Order: sequence, then C-alpha cells, then structure tokens
Amino acid sequence: MNDILPDQCAIWQYLEDCFRAVAGSRGYREIRFPLLEQTQLFKRSIGEVTDIVEKEMYSFEDAGGDHISLRPEGTAGCVRAAQQHGLLYNRQQRLWYQGPMFRRERPQQGRYRQFHQFGLEAFGMAGPDIDAEIIELSAAFWRRLGLADSLKLELNNIGSAADRERYSAILGEYLASRADELDPAARGRIRSNPLRILDSKHPGNRQVARDAPAMTEYLSPESVAHYAALKQLLAAAGIGFTENPSLVRGLDYYNCCVYEWTTEVLGAQSAVCGGGRYDGLVAQLGGRPTPAAGFAIGVERLAMLLETLGKLPANAQFRADVYIVVIGGAISAASQALARRLREQFPDRRIVCQCGGGKYSQQVKRAFDMNARLLVVMEQAEGEPPRQVKLRDLHNSFEPRLAPIDQCGQEIGRLLSQNL
Ligand code: HAM
Repeated sequence: MNDILPDQCAIWQYLEDCFRAVAGSRGYREIRFPLLEQTQLFKRSIGEVTDIVEKEMYSFEDAGGDHISLRPEGTAGCVRAAQQHGLLYNRQQRLWYQGPMFRRERPQQGRYRQFHQFGLEAFGMAGPDIDAEIIELSAAFWRRLGLADSLKLELNNIGSAADRERYSAILGEYLASRADELDPAARGRIRSNPLRILDSKHPGNRQVARDAPAMTEYLSPESVAHYAALKQLLAAAGIGFTENPSLVRGLDYYNCCVYEWTTEVLGAQSAVCGGGRYDGLVAQLGGRPTPAAGFAIGVERLAMLLETLGKLPANAQFRADVYIVVIGGAISAASQALARRLREQFPDRRIVCQCGGGKYSQQVKRAFDMNARLLVVMEQAEGEPPRQVKLRDLHNSFEPRLAPIDQCGQEIGRLLSQNL
C-alpha cells in the first residue's frame, strides 16, 4: 500500500475538483458505496476466470461466516448500490464515484495494491451517443489538466455476449491447435477465457495471438453498426483514436465498444483510464435488462503523469494565505486573537498562526515551508501589547508596511486580492 503525503493530497484535491467539475457539468452525480462487498458480487460481475477474481482479490470470511472482499474496482458496487436503491428503475442515470480499490498485484511503479479511481457509469442509454459523451467527457478532463497531447485513445469492438461466445469457441479451437506454444497460464484458459490470451504480454502467446482468427469476422451487424456510429461521433467531436484489435480488457462484463487512454510516459503501466459498454451486467446481477457504459481513471497514474510532465498548476499546491509570526514570548493570546479575527473576516483563506516561539528567521522559514503568501509580523514592544503589525508579501516583494493591528484586516484583504 502506498502512502499519500500532504503534497500529493493537494494534487489529488486539485484532480478531484477538476473531475467533479467536468462530470458535474454534464449531469453526473456522485454516488458512494462500500469498500467491502459480498465476494459473490465480484465473481458474478468481473468473472470467475479473470486475473482479478482468480488471484488479486483480498477476500476473507468474516466472524459471521460471510464471504466478503475489498472492492477491486467500482462498477460492480455501483451497479449493486444503484439497483438496490431503485436508481435504475425505468430511468436513466448518470453517476460518478471515487475512492480506493484493492488488487493484490505485484507492486511496481504505477501499480499498487491499494490504488484510487475516479469512475463514472451511465445507465439506461443504449445508443452510441452515450459512449461518445463519456469519451468526450474524459477528453475534456485531459484538456483541463493540460494532458490532451499526452494521452492516446485506443478503441476496440468486442461484440455482443452472443458474438463473443461464438468467437470464443472458434478462437478456443485455434488456440488448442497451438497449445504447446502458449505459457501454462494461457493453456489453462483456452476453454475458460480464450479472449484474455489475445492481450497477453508473454512473447509466445503474442506470436500465437498474432495469427489468430480476427474477431471482426464474427461480429453481429448490430455491434458493427453501433461501433461505426461511435467512431463517426468521435470524429465529429474531433477526438482522435487508434483501433487496437487485441484490446479486450481484463473484466468479463464488457460488450461492444471498449477503450483505454494510454500514455508513453509511464513505462509498463501505460493505461490511465479504461472503460466500455456493459449492457448485460445489471440483469446479470438481478436487475432488469439495462444498457450501461462507463470508465475508471487511475488517480495515482494520473498524478504521476502530471508530475512527470511538469503540468501541475500553482493551485495544486498547499498554500497558506497568511502566516502570523510572533516575536516576544508573552503575546500568544494577542496573536491568536488576531488569527481568530482574520479567520472570521476571511473564512475561505488559510490563516496559520505560529505556535511554539522561535527566532524570527526560523518562523519565516516555516512560513516559506507552508508556501505562505503574506507574513504578518507581530512584535511585542517592551511589555506593551502590540498596536501594529508588519505586513510582508512573500510572493510579491515590496517594502514591508505597517498597519494598526485592529485595522490590518482591510490591508490584508487588499494584498491577498492582488495577483491571485
Ligand atoms: P480497469 O482497467 O481495471 O477498469 O481500471 C481502470 C484504471 O485503474 C486503469 O486504467 C488504471 O489506470 C487504474 N488501475 C488499475 N489497477 C491499478 C493498480 N493496481 N494500481 C494503480 N492503478 C490501477 C475498471 O476498473 C473498470 N471498473 C472501469 C469501468 C467503469 N468500466 C466501466 N465502468
């Protein structure tokens, strides 16, 4: 599990604010659902024969004998929650969520056992317009973060559930004929999940996959038409993409259009966002047949990409607006009273008051550590309570100026409103 330190939290807050704004402006509402669910939910949705369910879930039996798991992804829990609370009954629904997910994968740069996602799911819309809307939403998010040129969209059509069944049988036969070239894990999946072998990274599997019969030959006319219409909508929205026939995704619930946004900057863990349609899942989990589509973004990978490319704006850093420096031992009551007054006057500003004394230079260093904008220096004069403070703008050097202590709020407000 990786720790998320204060500087990173500030970046995450910035990402969350941007995502909330982009999703909110298109009518998506936030939903929250638990980290723990019945293990069965993930088996039924993600699929029994997938890496996630076979090897990566944190599952245990609780004291009451229930089999539960930490959620490895958000779609299953989102569908379960929306369904249980009647949000999907005869209506369309646009939802987003965020939070930690857990997969027991081999940790490496960009791959963690506890990681975080921004996810988004749309229910009740069967046409390609919702797929285009969702992809356009992700593109708008990248633009807002300055990443439009750093992420590429890969797209594939994996057909309907029936198409996949037909194709899987043919693919299985082909793979069986070259089984000795596959690695043992792939060999074990020839019957149970042959599609997954297509996007394997193992060199032997890749060679075999390269010569496999193409899925495109086995797609139903409906899938073909849906996918073609999506490509047209993306082109009309100015969103470029490449088609990747070996993109099948690691979760079983998908059908028709699937996609990933990838980057060349992060090495092996190149996928920053993945998603697609999953029209069968709601019914599979006991609801009425409900078309659905969505995606999830890996927050760690996104933050890493922004940092690597140096695309973090100043407001992605923590910044104290005012730092009150206190010189002279007996005036903490006065400095704290000033801090209280300023917090009331500027409720949205960050006002930090020095505690614990220290030399002037040490205190100023602490103010810089907090990336403070304005220094308010309070000095005790020969046992008298201070009557005035000295103001220094640390981001905008000018001569320090004096202000009467009971009217300094006005001057502070004026200085803070400059150049922000
Ligand atoms: P996923 O492709 O498994 O899809 O995960 C989405 C994103 O989460 C990945 O592209 C990646 O950025 C991030 N991610 C996945 N595993 C890790 C990890 N171990 N460490 C760090 N980041 C990771 C889903 O989870 C689907 N539920 C997406 C979806 C929503 N499809 C439809 N609706």
